[in-house]
Amino acid sequence: MTIRICVAGATGWTGGSLVPAIEAAPDLALTGAVARRAAGKTIAGITVQASVAEALDAAAADVLIDYTSPEAVKGNVLAALERGVAVVVGTSGLAGPDYAEIDDVARRKGVGVIAAGNFSLTAALLQRFALLAAAHVPQWEILDYAGFEKPDVPSGTARELAERLGAVRAPAVGVPVEKLHGPKETRGAEIAGVRVHSVRLPGYVLSCEAVFGLPGERLSIRHDAGESAAPYVAGTLLAARRVREVTGIVRGLDTLLFGPA
Ligand SMILES: NC(=O)c1ccc[n+]([C@@H]2O[C@H](COP(=O)([O-])OP(=O)(O)OC[C@H]3O[C@@H](n4cnc5c(N)ncnc54)[C@H](OP(=O)(O)O)[C@@H]3O)[C@@H](O)[C@H]2O)c1
Repeated sequence: MTIRICVAGATGWTGGSLVPAIEAAPDLALTGAVARRAAGKTIAGITVQASVAEALDAAAADVLIDYTSPEAVKGNVLAALERGVAVVVGTSGLAGPDYAEIDDVARRKGVGVIAAGNFSLTAALLQRFALLAAAHVPQWEILDYAGFEKPDVPSGTARELAERLGAVRAPAVGVPVEKLHGPKETRGAEIAGVRVHSVRLPGYVLSCEAVFGLPGERLSIRHDAGESAAPYVAGTLLAARRVREVTGIVRGLDTLLFGPA
């Protein structure tokens, strides 16, 4: 049966690449599109709405895919769940407590949500390899690189990685931050017990590196995104095809591809 999809952020860098891919897929149908500035215009034969609530009320959908902004995403997800619509969350900016709240609502409604800080296959491999490393190496930190105009820190990829590695165990600490001499901010932010360092400079697209250290040796696992949104399309559509099989939230494309870590 055809899966009806509403894309929030349909005119954006990622959403704009998803729309033709949905049109080209025989098992998927675009039934809704959301973006504020294009509201009232037509994309792929669909009238664009200014909000997710308006789009889902105008035409039924089975799945909402969200690639909007950190400010808009949570409201969009909750609007979909309240209407019994499953959600694929690509937008970054949500933290662990947001996902816990979303999970509660989704379970209450008997609906599924799949969220990944990065829907590309090679980023999913970074997550999985890093989870394996964290089970064996007790100390690690995360480096997050992006262009200088990215408004949220850290990236969704880095935040998700920190939260998931932190759930494996708390990384061992050398000198506690409060005992350091010098500006403590240089040691980065602590997310789920993991130190995360965000670099924002022209010349970067999006890179995420997990560095694991042992006496006398070091392992770096790094993902570098290129300029195209193509890597996110396949993973996002895989999630759209699978999301109605789950109840509550599933985090990470690697969980979908390889099962629970
Ligand atoms: N998980 C992943 O694999 C992955 C991959 C790529 C990007 N991302 C994340 O996805 C998000 C979007 O990235 P992008 O580069 O595609 O952004 P973008 O090019 O700026 O596109 C954002 C889209 O969302 C719409 N939008 C923004 N705020 C809205 C609101 N309040 N209500 C309705 N529509 C709204 C924009 O149109 P209007 O401004 O006209 O409303 C536009 O269509 C970011 O958080 C990014 O970090 C994640």
